[in-house]
Order: sequence, then structure tokens, then C-alpha cells
Amino acid sequence: MTTHAPAAKPANPLIPGRQVGVPTTMRATVQDAYGPAEEVLRPDDIPVPAPEANQVLVRVHAASIHVGDLVSIEGEPIIARLATGLRKPTNRVPGTDVAGTVVAVGDAATSLRIGDQVFGWCTGAFAEYVCAAEDHFLPKPANLSFEQAAAVGVSATTALQLLRDRAVFGAKVLINGASGGLGSYAVQLAAAFGAEVTGVCGPRNVDTVRSLGAAHVIDYTKEDFTRGEQRYDFILDNVANHSLARTRRALTERGVLQSNNGTSGGRWFGTLGTVIKTAVVSIFTRRQAPPSIKFTTREDLLTLKAIIEDGRVTPLIERTYPLSRAAHAIEHVKTGHARGTVVLTVEAPTESKS
Ligand SMILES: NC(=O)c1ccc[n+]([C@@H]2O[C@H](COP(=O)([O-])OP(=O)(O)OC[C@H]3O[C@@H](n4cnc5c(N)ncnc54)[C@H](OP(=O)(O)O)[C@@H]3O)[C@@H](O)[C@H]2O)c1
Repeated sequence: MTTHAPAAKPANPLIPGRQVGVPTTMRATVQDAYGPAEEVLRPDDIPVPAPEANQVLVRVHAASIHVGDLVSIEGEPIIARLATGLRKPTNRVPGTDVAGTVVAVGDAATSLRIGDQVFGWCTGAFAEYVCAAEDHFLPKPANLSFEQAAAVGVSATTALQLLRDRAVFGAKVLINGASGGLGSYAVQLAAAFGAEVTGVCGPRNVDTVRSLGAAHVIDYTKEDFTRGEQRYDFILDNVANHSLARTRRALTERGVLQSNNGTSGGRWFGTLGTVIKTAVVSIFTRRQAPPSIKFTTREDLLTLKAIIEDGRVTPLIERTYPLSRAAHAIEHVKTGHARGTVVLTVEAPTESKS
């Protein structure tokens, strides 16, 4: 008697390597022009990307939004289009930070297998599937949901890069803008490194920032930290609502100010003027750190994964939105008052597309 194995799902003929159940088209949020998210973002069915030899294809469960995504969607400051496309976005699908399940593996990719649950970074995260080099992904921290893992990405790695050498044990560290995407990680990381953290935020977030590990919280509607008596060894300024000189007045004698405000400013050049000024000032005083331009690295993600898995940092997520409401999610981030990270959830693709 002949027995038959259950019929395997048809393979996507456009994908050369190993794969499981991959359709040929997928739902994605796309943009064909720069502008406000509500005007330029729209859902579309586009081909599922095929992984190159060193890449993996990930079925996206969640993607998160950071302020850099606003720049690539709106195309402002305009100077940023040198990187994202002069007339229109080079990448139709925005988004960087992602978590999901590996569903196809390029022939030369060896570290990940089909079925692995991963988080990391890519181009085009606001979609049902993404491709990236296998070293852009790590196994998802066991104690995080996909939504939480997607929220790590650029915000957490930037906070780590800015703090790890300065927020040392016992240092008095002030985080201006302590409750947002980057600030909520900065507070937790500085506390994890043993610093005495002061977080500055609005009244709605005072309790949250304290719960993240801040020993002191300043409500900026009631108190101006630059005019107080307290002095800090390190200030991470995510807001830049005071002049550099005035902010540096809140430093101890050997204290350092790290300015980190990347989106406000003029339509053409954004904060470029401030970045140049910061760079020049940093030549003349060691109390002003030079501007920091770094990118997400695998080593940073590995460090964060360890810190997250031992429970010292947990992504703070205020809201999740379905992928179909990406424009609303972006608009919320744009208010500059989102609590923690805003996450897009991506439902399982429908079988009919296979
Ligand atoms: N997120 C990233 O991946 C990333 C990477 C590189 C650089 N950056 C830069 O880092 C900065 C912060 O990013 P983010 O993602 O944390 O932004 P965000 O999520 O929009 O958070 C903004 C933060 O600023 C606070 N804030 C607003 N007005 C304030 C004021 N007058 N005084 C003190 N705090 C105030 C908000 O607190 P309330 O809501 O309580 O008012 C909130 O904590 C931005 O300039 C961004 O360009 C971010």
C-alpha cells in the first residue's frame, strides 16, 4: 500500500533558497512621494522580496516607529533627501525596526533557520515580509513579545551608544526628554549601569519615568532644571529647549553635555546648524560632547538582548496600531509626546495570497 505525505505548501518560485509557505505578494504600507504621513502613506500589494544568498526573509509580526522614520516619510529636513532619495523616496516601504519569524533562508546564510523568532533592523519594515542580511537579526529575547522586540531597534541602540561610556556607576545623570522612544531606554540603561538618574518629562509621564528607574523626576511644566541647584555629571538632552550654554550650567565642573536633538529646526536643514555649533563648541570645551552619528550594530543589539533578558530593561510601549493604520501611528509619534515606542502589528498574511 502506498502512503502519501501531506501536500507541502507551494513554494514561491521567485525565492531561490529554503523557504516555507511564502506567498508571491504581500500587503505593505508604501509611499510614492514625500509629505505628511496621512497624505502619502497607503496600503498596497507588492511582491514579497527574495532574499539574496546572505539574507533571510522574515514574516513580520511587529514593526516599530522611531523619529528617523518621520524624516524618511516626510522628506524633511530636505537635506536628508540626499540619503533617502532626491525627488521621491528610494525605498517605497518605510520602517526599520522589526520582529518576526524566519520563513526563507538564502543559500549562504548559516546562523538562522526557518522558524527562528528574531528581531533586528532592515529596510521596509512596514510590510508583511522583510529581507535583510542574516547578521541584522538576532534571536528574539525569550522574555519579550514580538511587539516589545520590535520596539528595541534604533531607539535602544542609540540610547546605549550615547550612555555606555558616561552613565557610569554613581554618576549623576540627567535625561531631558525621559519618557519618549529614546528617553525611556536612556533612563533604564543609565539606571542599569548604576547611575543616579534624573528624568525630565511632562506631568502625564512622571510616574512612568520613575517606574523606569529614575531616582528623581522633574516635571518640566513646574521646574526648569537649568535654573536649579542640582549639578549633573552627564546630561543627555533629547529636547534642546534651552541654549547649549544654559544647559551646560547644570553640569558639574567635569560634567559633559551630549546634545541629541535630530528633528526640529528649519525645513531645509533641520538641526544641522545646531549640530555644527555643537561640533565647534566641543572643540573648545570638553563639557560639550561632539554630535554622535552612529548606526545600529549587531554588537549593540547583542548587548541589549543580554540586558533585556536579565530583566534590567523592558521596552515601553504606549500604543500599538495595525499596519493598515500606520499613518495614524506616525502622526502620534509626530506629536513629540508619545510615551515610549509606538508599534505596528502585522496580522498573518491571508492564505489566498499564497
Ligand atoms: N528615537 C530614536 O531612535 C532617535 C535616534 C537618534 C536621535 N533621536 C533624537 O532624540 C530625540 C528624542 O527622540 P525620542 O524618540 O525619544 O522622541 P519622542 O518619543 O518624541 O519623545 C520626546 C520626549 O521629549 C519630551 N519633551 C517634550 N517637550 C519637552 C520639554 N519642553 N522639556 C522636556 N522634555 C520634553 C517628551 O516628554 P512628554 O511627552 O512627557 O512631554 C518625551 O519624553 C529626538 O530629537 C530625536 O531626533 C532619536
